[in-house]
Amino acid sequence: MSTKRLDKYLADAGIGTRTEIKSYIKKGFVTVNGEIAKKPDIKVDINTDDITFQNEPIELSLFEYYILNKPAGYVSATKDNTAPTVLSLIKSNRKDLFPVGRLDKDTEGLLLITNDGALSHKLLSPKRHVDKTYYAKIDGIVTPDDILAFEKGLEIGDEDLDIAMPAKLTILDSNEQENCSTVHITIQEGKFHQVKRMVQAIGKTVTYLQRVSFGPLQLPPELALGTFRSLTDEEINMLQKF
Ligand code: URA
Repeated sequence: MSTKRLDKYLADAGIGTRTEIKSYIKKGFVTVNGEIAKKPDIKVDINTDDITFQNEPIELSLFEYYILNKPAGYVSATKDNTAPTVLSLIKSNRKDLFPVGRLDKDTEGLLLITNDGALSHKLLSPKRHVDKTYYAKIDGIVTPDDILAFEKGLEIGDEDLDIAMPAKLTILDSNEQENCSTVHITIQEGKFHQVKRMVQAIGKTVTYLQRVSFGPLQLPPELALGTFRSLTDEEINMLQKF
């Protein structure tokens, strides 16, 4: 038997804030096993009790999965004292959400947010070699030799030896006059500042970075910067099977 307070159950199911839920219960909108619930603090069994809100059954999903188009200026953490976190962009009553891995504060693009620790662990495991593709603007002209250097694996350590695994660099555009390039870079690791350090290792600088894919997930073109949506069942299945 696994029990929860009724108001917590309804909050976790995304029905509203605790205050809103109290008022819904007062108004008689909530039933437990066919009876109108009278108090927010009664205990319900999350596996066996039938709970409805405005006559609709409420199923508590154990896990939530969101895809966020992260804007620059947000920290990929659950708490930070200096800047807003990516979680502040997710409208959910769940308190156990976290970002799967990290994007730098100035990096934009695809970030998965969930409370599914096992899935996150699997996706971040270095053994799994999950592809992550970034779109980058580079100060400097990227050359075919740079592509080969990425293919071989680059030394990206400052003082200690640190070799980045072979990665794929694709040149999208080069502008000789402005001395800049745009590229796609696909890596399978998640070392600190990895893409920026790899680009530095070929003597150039990243001026803009955006993650466009993570494993089987693509950044949806219609997902505006700073907005999020729930993953579809199909996307969740793809990640679970990955
Ligand atoms: N590589 C970086 O350098 N920064 C990121 O945010 C992600 C990958």
